[in-house]
Amino acid sequence: MSEASPAADAALDAANLSDHEYDGIQEYDNPTPGWWHLIFFLTIIFSVFYWFWYAGTAPGKSVHEKYEEEVTAYYEMLFADVGTLEPDEPTILRVMHDPDLAQFRPVAQAIFTSKCAACHGATGAGGTGPNMTDDSYLNVSSLTEIATVIREGAATGAMPPWEGRLHPNQITLLAGYVASLRGTNVPGKSPEGEVPAPWPEWAGPEDAGAP
Ligand code: HEC
Repeated sequence: MSEASPAADAALDAANLSDHEYDGIQEYDNPTPGWWHLIFFLTIIFSVFYWFWYAGTAPGKSVHEKYEEEVTAYYEMLFADVGTLEPDEPTILRVMHDPDLAQFRPVAQAIFTSKCAACHGATGAGGTGPNMTDDSYLNVSSLTEIATVIREGAATGAMPPWEGRLHPNQITLLAGYVASLRGTNVPGKSPEGEVPAPWPEWAGPEDAGAP
């Protein structure tokens, strides 16, 4: 509107005033401009193509997939120096006792918190799953069987299998972490199952890997 023609402005105002009034305020018909509509409809058309591109084409684009990729890359970097941690007794004992692997304990704890605590409790004292801080086990009579249960699951999936969903090293680290919870006796779910023989002693760094 220009200041040059107040009369023209007033005429326009009168023409555009609608009959609708509320609280003494009269509605003015001021439609959004054509270019605005054009952009609005273009975004709708764009969204259709974007949806097909995002949801329908090659994987790896969703926030969730990107996150998984980055987590995997992080663990590969973390494990680059240690090689494969086999899920055997000497390695699980090393995970539990070897100061060289102590840096991985918080890693195992973090995985436990994010993947296992929902059923086993943040402290391992049980929930849907059994208490892992007492001396009794349902499916486990040796250290390696802890890793086996984590890999393959138990009770037809009540304990889910983690093979393929966790890095093999993560499974071995978790086995060591879970094993080290034994006997910490955090109050929680009552003991279930049998009491296996105590875990073997760690022979120390020199003998690591020896039977
Ligand atoms: C959806 C719930 C659920 C989740 C998640 C879960 N577990 Fe379990 N877990 C169970 C149940 C239930 C059992 C007991 C199975 C049975 O009754 O034999 C179990 C058993 C176990 C056992 C054997 C204990 C025993 O007494 O024999 C281990 C070890 C174990 N889980 C470790 C883990 C680890 C490590 C994780 C995380 C990577 C995990 N679980 C995640 C439900 C779960």
